Parts: sequence; C-alpha cells; structure tokens
Amino acid sequence: MQTESLQRSFRQVFGAAPSGVARGPGRVNLIGEHTDYNQGFVLPMAIDLAVHIAFRPRGDSRVRAQSLDFDQRSEFDLQDLSSVRSGWPAYLAGVAWALQDEGVVLTGWEGVVRSQLPVGSGLSSSAAVQMAAARVFAAVSGLEWEPARMARLVQRAENEWVGVRCGIMDMLASACGRRGRALLIDCLDLSRDHVRMPGSAAVVVLDSGTRRELSLSGYNDRRAECEAAARVLGIPSLRYASLADLHLRRDDLAAPLYQRARHVITENQRTLEAAAWLQAGDLTRFGQAMNASHASLRDDFQVSTPELDSLAALAQRHPACHGARMMGGGFGGSVVCLAERGGSRKLAREVLEAYQQLTGREGNAIVSRAADGASLYV
Ligand code: GLA
Repeated sequence: MQTESLQRSFRQVFGAAPSGVARGPGRVNLIGEHTDYNQGFVLPMAIDLAVHIAFRPRGDSRVRAQSLDFDQRSEFDLQDLSSVRSGWPAYLAGVAWALQDEGVVLTGWEGVVRSQLPVGSGLSSSAAVQMAAARVFAAVSGLEWEPARMARLVQRAENEWVGVRCGIMDMLASACGRRGRALLIDCLDLSRDHVRMPGSAAVVVLDSGTRRELSLSGYNDRRAECEAAARVLGIPSLRYASLADLHLRRDDLAAPLYQRARHVITENQRTLEAAAWLQAGDLTRFGQAMNASHASLRDDFQVSTPELDSLAALAQRHPACHGARMMGGGFGGSVVCLAERGGSRKLAREVLEAYQQLTGREGNAIVSRAADGASLYV
C-alpha cells in the first residue's frame, strides 16, 4: 500500500516508473540510553514506521530528490556535495559523502522521499532517511548491502556531515532489526543478539508534543562530560567503569561528572539485566528496569524535561503498563512504554488525556511493532 502510492507519486513527479523502493525504518529504544557512545549496551528495535524512497538510477552523477513531506525538491551533483549541508537534503548528501570517502563509486538517481516518522519525536527519523538513502545508493551503484558496515557509514555521515555526535544505536537498529525481536547491541564491538519480544507485550510510544533539536541541545555536552569522566578515571570509556571504581574516585570527579558516570554504569547493568528478563518473558521486571532508567536519566544524566517526567509518571501508574521511560537523546520527544497488548490502546488514550489535563499539551501515541531492518523492494 505504502509503496504503491509512493510509486504513483514517483510517476507524477518524474513521468516514469521507479525501478525500486528503499525502506529505512525508525527505531524505538527499549532501554540503554546514552550508553552507545560510551561503548556500552543498548536494546532498541526497528519499527514498522519508516522512510521510503521510490527511485530509479540516472546515467550521470546527479541526485534529484523530491520530499513529499516538505514539498521540496533538491538537486545536487555527487562530484560537488559541499553546498548541501542543511535540511533533509543534507542527509542524502552526507550518506553520499561517507560512501565516496570510503572509495565507493556512486551513480546518481532520482527519487521521491516520504516519511511516516514525526520529526523530533525520538523515533530517529534522521537515521531512517539516511538508511533509506544508503539502500538507494547501494542499489543504483551495485554495492553489496552489508547492514553493519552501512550503519557505521551512516553514523559517520551524521557525525561529520550533519554535525551531530550521535552514537551508533539508531543506525544499527534501523539497519539490522528483525521482525518480532529487539536487538541487544554491545556498542564496543557491535556484536548483536536478537531477543524475542513476547507476544503479550506492546510497545507504545507516547509523544510529549515537545521537540528537541539534537544538534542544538545538550547532547554533545553530555557526551563530552562522559568522555571527561572516563579521562579522570583513566579508562578508554565509561564501559570499563564499575560502581565500586566510581565510589573510590568520588572526590576526583566534579559534581556533574560523577552523576553522568553513575547513570552510564547503572544503565549498562540495567540493559543487560532487562535483556535477560525479556528473554525469560518477565515483563514485570523488565518494566521495573525501564522505570529505574527514567529516574536515572532524570536525576543523574539530567536530560529529561517536566513534560517527559509527567508523561512517564502517568504511564507508569496505568494498570496496563509494565514500565515507561523517556526515550532517545532527551530534552523533549517521547516516552516509551511497555504495555499489555490487550490494554495498550486504552492506556494510550487515558494517559494522553491525563497528560493534557496536567500540562495543557496535546500528546500523540503510536503502538509500534518490531520490524525488519532497512529493505529494498524492486
Ligand atoms: C540519540 C542518538 C543515539 C543515542 C541516544 C541516547 O538518539 O542518536 O546515538 O546516543 O540519543 O541514547
């Protein structure tokens, strides 16, 4: 359905049929927040909402892309990407830059882009558009699709072209997700385990209606604080720290650094334990780990907001909820909630109503499923 209407749009814009449709899914992170760039553990999943690009190759080195969401056209040459540094076209150009920088010879294409992911809600619309673009570039240029390699390339694009120092989680989830499974990633060596999601559980994303600007927010500051804490502790990253080490060095770490490190250390532990509980089907314990993660992000890492705190607290109190926490970089965006499948719609409705009464803000809910990673339809 989704791809048929996109193919129709392609025909309207370019006057011919596309040769394929690439899909880059968004992601939800169940637990493991602000741990990826500390070489720690994360437990995200790719979801059924995605960015799709209908495309066909060109005989030259130009990219012509039409965004249906922004109603904008972008056109650039792969030989000269330097001017394409902002807005959605920068995501396409950044992927091209990262691939070319690794010596890949690229072919141009034309395409229409459509996203099902609300921007800024914490579902990683940027990783999704970049993964979809990577699939297009790979398809038109005859490049073998290696999901983990592409995730690393897309991370470089985001870090060095777009200028956000994000970790690898979003791209790896979008590239390597599997239907019905969450993905436990060890961000030290990128090794992955697929953990089955119990059929009785539903993942509800509650969008607070507040927006963050990742590149403008405190995200890069938090990352720098984590690196500073690791330097003081004399270790390559906070992955190598234990709570015992941290307590011993308490006097050496200035106030915020101690809390930042404590969040990362405890979040890594919680993520590993939560993955084991998910595997065992113990959703109650899994939910408790999510609640504890929220408290740690709020108090120690200090990336939550009053809106996210309200939404998480309201969700946590709902009878159909196993656990809830803010998700993603923070400073706005969404809360992720693990709920009983049968009660998930009711939970979404009731929690959002209470949230509106409390804050005057209109939220939004998405019940999402674990889906396969980036794919290609030809
Ligand atoms: C953003 C980044 C990720 C990760 C999260 C926090 O989503 O893109 O790499 O660091 O924040 O866990």
